[in-house]
Amino acid sequence: MLELNIPSKEHDEARQGEALMLEATKNNNGRKLYIESYGCAMNFSDSEIVASILADDGFVTTADFTEADIVFINTCSIRENAEVRVRNRLKQFSASKAKNPGMIVGVLGCMAERLKAKFLEEEKLVDVVVGPDAYRDLPNLINKVDDGNKAVNVLLSREETYADINPVRLNSNGISAFISIMRGCDNMCSFCVVPFTRGRERSRDAHSVVKEAQDLFAAGYREVTLLGQNVDSYKWASEDGTEKVNFAQLLEMVALVSPDLRVRFSTSHPKDITDEVLHTIAKYENICNYIHLPVQSGNSRVLEIMNRTYDRQWYMERVEAIRRIIPECAISTDIITGFCSETEEEHQDTLSMMDFVKYEFAYMFSYSERPGTPAAKKFKDDIPEDVKQRRLEEVIAKQQIHSHYRAQQRIGKVEKVLIEGFSKKSKNDYCGRSDQNFMVIFPVGDAYKPGDYVNVLVEKTTTATLIGKVVE
Ligand code: 5AD
Ligand code: SF4
Repeated sequence: MLELNIPSKEHDEARQGEALMLEATKNNNGRKLYIESYGCAMNFSDSEIVASILADDGFVTTADFTEADIVFINTCSIRENAEVRVRNRLKQFSASKAKNPGMIVGVLGCMAERLKAKFLEEEKLVDVVVGPDAYRDLPNLINKVDDGNKAVNVLLSREETYADINPVRLNSNGISAFISIMRGCDNMCSFCVVPFTRGRERSRDAHSVVKEAQDLFAAGYREVTLLGQNVDSYKWASEDGTEKVNFAQLLEMVALVSPDLRVRFSTSHPKDITDEVLHTIAKYENICNYIHLPVQSGNSRVLEIMNRTYDRQWYMERVEAIRRIIPECAISTDIITGFCSETEEEHQDTLSMMDFVKYEFAYMFSYSERPGTPAAKKFKDDIPEDVKQRRLEEVIAKQQIHSHYRAQQRIGKVEKVLIEGFSKKSKNDYCGRSDQNFMVIFPVGDAYKPGDYVNVLVEKTTTATLIGKVVE
């Protein structure tokens, strides 16, 4: 991903480069566990749930897979190249397994769900295949493997939200954490494999979300990102039906945990984001002015066959509503180039949509057909690879101009920054995020430390990073 707290997208293998190693805490007869995660923020969040379940079962962990007894890889299926990366990584694990034949290799997440038991045939080194709703079964599945069997559980659930599981915060810098508020997706965008790998949409108990935010704040965390494939369709009701919570209300409940706890969220869906949500963001200073609002395409016909259920005008109207209600709000997006039958004119509509919004950030992809999706069944993947790539390059080039433009607009402004730690390049500088989710770099000082908020006067920028100094 992996700046883990950038606009946590549902699934972005472009940010998956540095897979994270997770550590569990207890001891299961000295057996060592290693987990590596790919794909979206939700996958990283799920790995923390897996770590928690196995810590309770008594595993110690290692950051070195060569010494592990159990190696888990939490996988992503969103584009073909995400799956290719996982297959290549498995090859590396196979050398370790050759040296240590007792080593258990498990595949978790979306690829596990998509390929099911086929995985065991295709990749001989794999012992256990576990889908995203079956993690509670892991101790039992590991027992089966210990008894000399291969094990698979890819059952999807309509209820599982892991609400009661206290994630082991292994992806975290101690300042910013993910809270998963819902699972699955009911949208059926025609290009997308997620509804098949993560199942039906279900929302987690609102009080368990708030409790998790409270616990994080008490432990020193200062930022939470509420995660769901489509947070705007969050909908929870108490069992007796007397209490109903929608996303705007949940946002408010989390914002009220403390004014010093920043609240972010991802991903918003243009068809579902309401003015009520926008007014809630505007009302609370600690709900960040930043919305990840994937457009996918700027052309209404393409949006229609993508089954996005909004058109160009609707999307523009939602952007205008954001500008009206939260004037300082940053907006980011996802774009797919070369979807089935997309013409040059339709591609131009995507470019003109970018000019209209001038997104702060964007995640841009060329279309990758995924087996079993509605698009794969109904449409021909007929845009040649070189055309998809050329369109992608045009989109990326435009986005660079816009990111730079938006960063430059911040020069001379004072940004409230939550300090995350040293900058990647120098121990003389700290880095942290602004409200609008820009990375901000400024000199280290005695009066402040990671986890503190500081006001930074922006003096210059790189393409999308702000550079400045702390002011009172
Ligand atoms: N091909 C290319 N990009 C895709 N995405 C989802 N499915 C595909 C696909 N088949 C992109 C969308 C989504 C983001 C997470 O990944 O832009 O918003
Ligand atoms: Fe996929 Fe669409 Fe659901 Fe996002 S909203 S996970 S793109 S089906």
